[in-house]
Amino acid sequence: MNSRFRKLAPAGSTELAQSLAQMLVGQPAAVDAIVPYVQIFQSHLAPEGRPAGVFLLLGPTGTGKTRTVECLAQALHGNERHFLRVDCGEFQMDHEVAKLIGAPPGYLGHRETQPMLNQAKLNSYTSERCGMNIVLFDEVEKAAPSMNRLLLGVLDKAALRLGDNTSVNFERSMIFLTSNLGAKEMMRELMPQFGFEAVMGGGEEPSAGGADAKQDAAAKMRRIEAIGVNAVKRRFTPEFYNRIDRVVAYQPLDSAALNRILDQQVENLQQLLRSRLGQRSFTLRVEPSARALLLDKGASRQYGARELKRTMHRLLLQPLASLVAANRIPPNSLVKASHTGGSGELQLKVSFGSPFLSKPQAINERPRLVRARRPANSRLETGPEDLDAA
Ligand SMILES: Nc1ncnc2c1ncn2[C@@H]1O[C@H](COP(=O)(O)OP(=O)(O)O)[C@@H](O)[C@H]1O
Ligand SMILES: [Mg+2]
Repeated sequence: MNSRFRKLAPAGSTELAQSLAQMLVGQPAAVDAIVPYVQIFQSHLAPEGRPAGVFLLLGPTGTGKTRTVECLAQALHGNERHFLRVDCGEFQMDHEVAKLIGAPPGYLGHRETQPMLNQAKLNSYTSERCGMNIVLFDEVEKAAPSMNRLLLGVLDKAALRLGDNTSVNFERSMIFLTSNLGAKEMMRELMPQFGFEAVMGGGEEPSAGGADAKQDAAAKMRRIEAIGVNAVKRRFTPEFYNRIDRVVAYQPLDSAALNRILDQQVENLQQLLRSRLGQRSFTLRVEPSARALLLDKGASRQYGARELKRTMHRLLLQPLASLVAANRIPPNSLVKASHTGGSGELQLKVSFGSPFLSKPQAINERPRLVRARRPANSRLETGPEDLDAA
């Protein structure tokens, strides 16, 4: 490709920060921590013999730790899946590291075990837009001690020795470790009047406005960080902890943040409809009553936005797919999703002639009310992750 026309990764720190903050909702501390390291790498000033940055992302589940890495991959490489993910849950037993690095020659299984990692594979996670690769070690607290020893080498010397004695260089890697260490204690600190078990349905929202409220929030954040750091220091050796450049504690998402995440996911669904259905696409409008149901079922102070995508899939995408499969949504319709009564399902109302067309193709203005049903045979076959990928 002609380099003049190549879309390069955002070079300015403000540009990158803005693009990350737009995708990653309500976690400014994460954006502030990451951006300078990307810039140091892009200015060729990163020290040798070390990874370009090592971040430990801590905090309650469903608050965007893994999402952060996807957003950075999107910003740097234009593809949110363009990073190497090592799920530490797969390395809970000491012998399982052979899956990652391959067995040494002469050992049983040497020929069968292809290492999951090698230099070519790591290099494949750079792109024309950016020469930095992103590596995620997810849920690092689950890793066996032998895996932690390997990780220590990666964090310390940017090198991993494989079973066949070759080694992989991580100097061009931005490394993220995620963990929920200390998360329970953090929730207790944030919502002391609710026991951890009682947090299930919701909880205290940070009070809005006021200098006092801001100071309180900042003090709370410092306590949360301290809880995270202490939990990490208890679990890992000082050597390991000292190799981490930045520890970021993620905040539980408040209702404003959850609403923004819902907006993002509705927009993603609309894009999916446009890109997959083409001419047969339609406009989707999610009414406030439907939003309330989606948030009620898909988000909470305890599980963050973790279930939101799945809830959107079940309550919105599946019934829409069922209508599409039955040819019940003419092109350019407006489909309104709402929630009435206590059915726990959404109602979809199809009006022909989208208000967004310059010449409405009104076939029949009378809206059709359709009860959302699970599709028998859907043509919109996607997984919940496609809502993000659209
Ligand atoms: N801060 C956030 N901004 C945008 N989306 C988020 C955020 N937090 C969670 N989500 C949504 O919830 C899903 C699960 O979040 P994830 O990052 O996997 O949580 P965890 O903190 O447990 O790693 C994401 O894929 C995304 O759709
Ligand atoms: Mg995660």
